[in-house]
Amino acid sequence: MKPLVDLTKADMERVNQLILSKAGSDVAMIPEVANHLISSGGKRLRPMLTLASAAMFGYDGDQHIKLATSVEFMHTATLLHDDVVDESDMRRGKSTARMIWGNQASVLVGDFLLGQAFKMMVEVGSLEALDVLSTAATVIAEGEVLQLSVAKNMETTEDDYLQVIRAKTAALFAAASEVGPIIANTGRAERNALKSYGMNLGLAFQLVDDALDYGGKAADLGKNTGDDFREGKITLPVILAWRRGTAEDRAFWREAIEGGKSDDANLERAFGLITRYGGLTDTIARAQHYGMIARDALAPLPASPWKNALLEVIDFSIARVS
Ligand code: IPE
Ligand code: IPE
Ligand code: MG
Ligand code: MG
Repeated sequence: MKPLVDLTKADMERVNQLILSKAGSDVAMIPEVANHLISSGGKRLRPMLTLASAAMFGYDGDQHIKLATSVEFMHTATLLHDDVVDESDMRRGKSTARMIWGNQASVLVGDFLLGQAFKMMVEVGSLEALDVLSTAATVIAEGEVLQLSVAKNMETTEDDYLQVIRAKTAALFAAASEVGPIIANTGRAERNALKSYGMNLGLAFQLVDDALDYGGKAADLGKNTGDDFREGKITLPVILAWRRGTAEDRAFWREAIEGGKSDDANLERAFGLITRYGGLTDTIARAQHYGMIARDALAPLPASPWKNALLEVIDFSIARVS
């Protein structure tokens, strides 16, 4: 990710300033909770996509800073909410906000950040950008609810799963990438190129993230591995192992995921089955496929350091698995 980090360094300093100032409130608990998560870092990948996708079309105003901040606030709000829904204990290498301040505070501070994000979008004054980002906010929520409604159901198909990750993750990557060309006033083709890049990058990113929940290390990820299994979340590694397994294997999955028998011994067994049936390697292969679509989406655009940096992000997102 270094090329993108280097190119957006100066602008990201402004974004980080704005993040801190917009997380402020006279209600002391709000900055306390928000800054706990914000100061733990995170890659800040989505705002960098917004900055780059504006700069690559020669945008030279200031509004991309506010849009990038809005995008990161939408992401931060989502994480606060998501950790409540998923009952997660760890995020960005620290205890989740909900473990320290409780679920109620996490949800409400998430709402505050979402509100701040929309206020900044309104200040930017682009109805098109507002349309794209507000649609993404709706779609993300739909994705999280859809995921909830298919949880603990082994009949979930790969198509169902793709629909979930397209909504909960890829939609924000797509919107973050599309608002750049929007404020740079490009034509439709450029806008669509960046939208498609973001969407397919987001799919690849979540596929890899789901592989890492089984194959990664908590210390590298800053969040616990095995969470998806314990929650009964049906991700692609599980879908593949289930579909390719024997009747006996499928009985195990039903008991573990649908029956909630998700102790460490069963997590070990699940990991063994996922490995035996190529669940991780093929999840990564799917990620590579979407990565290639993202790459081809940018192919018609003129060569530039910005374009190269965006292309490198695809490789970074897939390589974080090894
Ligand atoms: C986490 O996103 C949520 C997913 C979509 C998997 P990131 O991995 O971008 O999280 P941070 O912001 O870097 O912590
Ligand atoms: C991340 O989803 C949050 C959203 C994209 C809405 P997950 O629940 O799959 O990701 P982690 O593992 O908590 O980061
Ligand atoms: Mg989660
Ligand atoms: Mg989740």
